[in-house]
Amino acid sequence: MMLTTQNTAACFMLAVGLIVGFTNQPAAQAAAEPPETPVSYSSEQVDSGEDRYKKDCVECHGDDLRGGMNGGPPLRGLAFEEKYFGELPASVMFGFMSATMPPNAPGRYSENTYADLMAYILKHNGFKEGAPLPSDLDALDYIIMSK
Ligand code: HEC
Repeated sequence: MMLTTQNTAACFMLAVGLIVGFTNQPAAQAAAEPPETPVSYSSEQVDSGEDRYKKDCVECHGDDLRGGMNGGPPLRGLAFEEKYFGELPASVMFGFMSATMPPNAPGRYSENTYADLMAYILKHNGFKEGAPLPSDLDALDYIIMSK
């Protein structure tokens, strides 16, 4: 009786070990080329981003970025953070935004303008000012969205 319980426990631990081992695999591979620099932006970028945001984004995403009249999701808060922040490269959010926003004319701005808009959003999510945010996807791949 004892033995069976121990065997079951041992099997369970082995199974857990295998699952942990497997799920660790991709993370270990991704860590081979980690993006290094924490994201930052300049105050000039925030200023121009704010102008553009108030013209073209506010109706859907709201004055305080918590969602607006025309059904855009909040650009701050837990759901947004989980999607774009942490160990993710800055290129994920930049890429999505520049390819899909604004919905009636996706990709209509220059890359610099998308970087300005992203700076404005970052500021409202508590990220710190510093070196300007690059506007080039390859460079953004090496910047992580951590505070
Ligand atoms: C007509 C309404 C509308 C306008 C205007 C608009 N958006 Fe959006 N936005 C949306 C909707 C709807 C989504 C969700 C799209 C999806 O998840 O596929 C979204 C998603 C986003 C996201 C990703 C949010 C997430 O949770 O993944 C960002 C960032 C964003 N918009 C930025 C902008 C910026 C910057 C502008 C101004 C240039 C803008 N949007 C203008 C409706 C709008």
